[in-house]
Amino acid sequence: MMSATELLCIAPSETPQLHLQPCEAPRMGGHEVLVRVHATSVNPIDVKRAAGYGRRLLGLKGAARFPLVLGNDFAGEVLAVGKHAARWRVGQRVLGALPTGPRGAHSSHVAVHLALMCELPLGHDFASACVLPYSFTTVWRAFRSIGLGPDTAAGQSVLVHGASGGLGLIALQLLSRWGARVTAVCSARHFDMCGQMGAHDFIDRLGAGLRQAPAKQHASLNFGSWDDDAAVMRCLAPSAIGHATAVHPLLASFDALGWVGGARHAIGAWHAHRRMLRAQSPQAKLSWTVYQPDADAIEALGALMHQDPIGLPVGLNVPLARGAQAFDHVAQQLPGRAVMNPGLSERK
Ligand SMILES: NC(=O)c1ccc[n+]([C@@H]2O[C@H](COP(=O)([O-])OP(=O)(O)OC[C@H]3O[C@@H](n4cnc5c(N)ncnc54)[C@H](OP(=O)(O)O)[C@@H]3O)[C@@H](O)[C@H]2O)c1
Repeated sequence: MMSATELLCIAPSETPQLHLQPCEAPRMGGHEVLVRVHATSVNPIDVKRAAGYGRRLLGLKGAARFPLVLGNDFAGEVLAVGKHAARWRVGQRVLGALPTGPRGAHSSHVAVHLALMCELPLGHDFASACVLPYSFTTVWRAFRSIGLGPDTAAGQSVLVHGASGGLGLIALQLLSRWGARVTAVCSARHFDMCGQMGAHDFIDRLGAGLRQAPAKQHASLNFGSWDDDAAVMRCLAPSAIGHATAVHPLLASFDALGWVGGARHAIGAWHAHRRMLRAQSPQAKLSWTVYQPDADAIEALGALMHQDPIGLPVGLNVPLARGAQAFDHVAQQLPGRAVMNPGLSERK
């Protein structure tokens, strides 16, 4: 067996209990590709999962049983190709996102389904690429769930709450390219960055906040806070197409209240918000977006990487052995995404 290294999260704790250890490279199935990981990112979900978040729902697929290898995103190089994965070849540069499971991407090697990665063109570095797939997939799913896309966004107004984060900045880049007029809701210190990424109008969430947001929006996206979800929806026009939120209380409800109480709470919150939305915008769709592996999204990301790449700022790139620093970077919401590099020596 090929030897590998993985960053193990030992037990749920507010201070992530991380341990770098040697392991065997994962076995590759016929529809899979074995990738040597050159860069993997820490997303907010990794920090939450390290503290035990999602223990009930994610536990159903073994993704909350410690010790765990966290992480979804990777960028690297193809080492071996399964017998039904012949569209890939050894040596190709790739990026992709794994399903959320017990053996994630914070590792030197991953086995990936052939449809969950795309080619990384020359000229793009692994660190900048590995911060994209998980967030892009989530944004793509949010857009698709409410019918937002190149054909429906042109000329329309869209409000993005949490615009300065990973999801928000990807949404700004896509929407502005599609010709939408985008209002970014974020801290005032992030207005410039959001403007560079395509936002036209800005609301300081720590100032007048959503009270000042323009009304009659065609669609809204909440990547900021569930507490603001009703206020975000109030910005929609009667003819709006929909509202998607990625910060809904689905996982937290089950964690806090158990199976029965959690289901009752989550369903109650869903219906209450759907009633609010219907009263305001009768045709609008409501989406509680959940990250899932999504071959269409990865294909779309691959096409963009070749034609008109998007990007996110990287704030930290450290060896896998310094994973605690990367988790801390994300927990403290320091600027830019946090990347870990299994190939970097610890001294660098
Ligand atoms: N449901 C899913 O499957 C799924 C998938 C991916 C992500 N998510 C969640 O979606 C959220 C956004 O992800 P991300 O990767 O974009 O996170 P991120 O990069 O950490 O950015 C979040 C942004 O939200 C803003 N913010 C922080 N606290 C806030 C608050 N109390 N109220 C409103 N805005 C606040 C911050 O910007 P300013 O300070 O500039 O306002 C920050 O830039 C996270 O909670 C993440 O866990 C969910």
